[in-house]
Amino acid sequence: MQLWIDTGNLEEIRTAQSWGVIDGATTNPTLIAKEGHKDFKGVIQEICSIIHPGPVSAETVTTTAEKLIPEAHEIASWAPNVVVKIPLIPEGLKAVKVLSGEGIRTNVTLCFSPAQALLAAKAGATYVSPFVGRLEDRNEDGMRVVEDIVDIYANYGIATQVITASIRDTLHVTQAALMGAHIATLPFAVLKRMYDHPLTDIGLEGFLADWRKLQES
Ligand code: E4P
Repeated sequence: MQLWIDTGNLEEIRTAQSWGVIDGATTNPTLIAKEGHKDFKGVIQEICSIIHPGPVSAETVTTTAEKLIPEAHEIASWAPNVVVKIPLIPEGLKAVKVLSGEGIRTNVTLCFSPAQALLAAKAGATYVSPFVGRLEDRNEDGMRVVEDIVDIYANYGIATQVITASIRDTLHVTQAALMGAHIATLPFAVLKRMYDHPLTDIGLEGFLADWRKLQES
């Protein structure tokens, strides 16, 4: 399963990339605004160069196919590894159909049900992003939605890849991997927690202490 980093923070992206375990990145307007980036094109190009050749999702901010298509053309021209994020609304999927015919890679975002994911696949989406954490915030089973999408796509040999998104903790990542989701996109804090286990720290401390004792004896 691919691991992508879900942030607009360049330092986090550089650090995650330096660890050698990241395959791609996602952003959204909220994450970009949180970092105060005014130059959207510039920041996406910077992320694309850090993550290259991995895919980087940059989100559109219009809501009609008429506007989404030229907006997607513009975003797709920014870097060879950019993926255009499009919202899961009828006009969005209408745009995805055209864009997929042109060979432009899309990430259909704000997906909250298997039925929506089926429509995204029909439109030719490269990726679909079910938002697990936001479903759980409403007391709904977000991981079940991911599992159902993975199963439905497998039933029909659908090529659209499933990005487990809106991840809140490491359990979501391991569950996504067990279900066969293609990708998990995670906040930097969750990526850091994936490294953690108290027995690793205790074990390392013991090995180093014994090594020091040996050198001093
Ligand atoms: C995915 O592409 C989104 O940027 C992200 O996962 C949304 O997560 P949130 O629910 O934590 O905002």
